[in-house]
Amino acid sequence: MKMLKHLTPLAIVLSLGVTAFAEDTPMEKEMSAMNKAYKALKKSVEDPAAKAENLKLIADIKKTTEASSKMEPKTAADQPAAAKPAYLEKYKAQMAAFAKEVADLEAAVTAGNTAAAKASFDKLNELKKKGHEDFKKD
Ligand code: HEM
Repeated sequence: MKMLKHLTPLAIVLSLGVTAFAEDTPMEKEMSAMNKAYKALKKSVEDPAAKAENLKLIADIKKTTEASSKMEPKTAADQPAAAKPAYLEKYKAQMAAFAKEVADLEAAVTAGNTAAAKASFDKLNELKKKGHEDFKKD
C-alpha cells in the first residue's frame, strides 16, 4: 500500500511525459492544418464579400487533401496483411471523393453561388465524419 502511494504520482508524471512527447504523424499535421482552414471557412463560406479569403482557405484544404491522399492512416498498420491493400484502396477512394467535393466547393465560391457553396461545405463535413469513422482511431 505504501509502495502504491509512491508509485501513483510517478505513473502520472510518466504518462504525462509520454503524452507530451508523442509526435504527431505527418497525416495528423496535415489534418490539423486542414482543420484550421475548415473552421475559418465555416464562418465565411456564405459571405460572397469574403470570396478572395474563402478561395485561399479552400486552396489550403486542397493542399492538405492532396498530401493526406498520398499517406497511410495509422490504422492501416493494424490491418491483417491480406486486408491492407483493400483498406488503403478504400481510404484513397474516400479521399478522392473528398477532393472532388473540395473542387465543387471551389467552383461554387468562384461563381458566387452561396447555396451551392454551403451544400458542398456540409457534404465535406459528412465525408470527414465518415472518413474518421472508417480510418481514424481515437
Ligand atoms: C473537413 C475535413 C476534415 C477535417 C477538418 C479533419 C480533421 C482532422 C483532425 C483535427 C485530426 C486529428 C489530428 C491530430 O490528432 O493532431 C484528423 C485525423 C485524421 N483524419 Fe481527418 N479531417 C477531415 C477529413 C478527413 C477525411 C476525408 C479522412 C479520410 C477519408 C480523414 C482521415 C483522418 C485520419 C485517418 C486521421 C488520423 C491520422 C493518422 O492516422 O495519422 N480525415 N482529422
